[in-house]
Amino acid sequence: MSTAKLTLNGKEYELPVIVGSENEVGIDVQQLRAKSGAITYDPGYGNTGACQSAITFIDGDQGILRYRGYPIEQLATQASFVEVCFLLIYGHLPNHNELTNFESELTRHTLLHEDMKKFFEGYPRGAHPMAQLASMIISLSTYYPESESELDLNIIRLIAKIKTLAAFAYKKSIGQPYIYPRNDMSYVADFMHMLFAVPSENYQVNEVVERALNLLLILHADHEQNCSTSTVRMVGSSQADLFASIGAGVCALWGPLHGGANQEVIEMLQMIQDDGANYKKYVDKAKDKNSDFKLFGFGHRVYKNFDPRATILKKSTDEVLHALGMSDPLLEIAKNLEEVALKDPYFVERKLYPNVDFYSGIIYRAIGIPTNMFTVMFALGRLPGWIAHWREMRSDKASRINRPRQVYTGATVRDYQSVFERK
Ligand code: SDX
Repeated sequence: MSTAKLTLNGKEYELPVIVGSENEVGIDVQQLRAKSGAITYDPGYGNTGACQSAITFIDGDQGILRYRGYPIEQLATQASFVEVCFLLIYGHLPNHNELTNFESELTRHTLLHEDMKKFFEGYPRGAHPMAQLASMIISLSTYYPESESELDLNIIRLIAKIKTLAAFAYKKSIGQPYIYPRNDMSYVADFMHMLFAVPSENYQVNEVVERALNLLLILHADHEQNCSTSTVRMVGSSQADLFASIGAGVCALWGPLHGGANQEVIEMLQMIQDDGANYKKYVDKAKDKNSDFKLFGFGHRVYKNFDPRATILKKSTDEVLHALGMSDPLLEIAKNLEEVALKDPYFVERKLYPNVDFYSGIIYRAIGIPTNMFTVMFALGRLPGWIAHWREMRSDKASRINRPRQVYTGATVRDYQSVFERK
């Protein structure tokens, strides 16, 4: 299968075809405009390959997700998040020495420059932590200007400091003192400690919570060319530095149709509970074209089968709540919603299944993370994926600045008239 043929205005054009390692086929249209004068048209990029990548493979019909070839089901239950960070960014699972060095480097770079605390002080108390996270990440470039020699060190700095930034934003929002990172804890345990410890107590890490957070971060670590990762590549393609590119990714993730959905899901479940747990009423609202209500946590551009992450999270939610001796009425509502929706022709015909955001918020709630921090948790998980794609693009010497075309539909040429001539 070497070429594709296109006929336009009676002329035939032959276009090269590329085939990936999983036999995905891409029609190479790089010369289409030069040859035919025409461009492709694909608003929302649902059928457009923006790049070739060796990082993550998704088969939306089969519900398959693999990071560098490793099935998400294996990584989620056997790997540490730090191992997955190394795997996504550097392309292989670290051996013992590599992992030890990587963990040690991450531990040594968790502190923020003390002057950065002044930035937090300027935010109003109710400032959304995603706004703070995005601006703080971009501000890191004022302390660590980009340089080829320090690129790997800046990657370490960013992964190490993002959890400190997230924890400081949380502590600021509840008016508690910042808890400084500790070097004697794992990446996830140290994050929990910075979130939940208070100066007067000796914080004890709950292992069930640590395992759950490790799982959640791994499940969110990458997802090929999603909206925020494509944003990181778009911004990075202009040779903007790592911190600026990742800050842009945080902003794209914040949208309620993307990473912001986990916050929307919990607020939706709470609204349903407050309305007498009448979940069938909300399934009907989601189907009603006159209503702009969506069943947040349902549907996906790529998965037309179960999102494998949702399957893992649904099981983990039950385990975490049981291990913590907790129950959550919102979980029952979520399960009822899922059961009704998966039998409803509207959802079945459109292949709308629960996605990664549908159950994650229940676990975050159970471990004490507030709703407005849910998307920050998504960003913490997705950071290694964003970095991996940025690094893959920047190391590809053939990569060019991203500059899509358009089909113009505005006014054709007309002459300027002075204000006195205009009707
Ligand atoms: C993430 O890309 C990624 O990989 C993202 C992500 C990642 O890891 O990076 O997986 C993370 O963003 C998950 C998605 C979280 N968002 C939500 O849960 C928000 C609710 N879902 C929808 O907004 C929607 O399903 C999207 C945004 C996820 C996908 O949008 P698409 O692909 O543009 O699909 P669409 O909006 O064109 O929907 C197709 C049809 C439409 O109906 P018709 O016009 O055919 O009649 O399905 C309907 C939609 O109205 N539909 C929904 C629905 N999602 C789609 N109807 C009700 N409730 C929903 N949730």
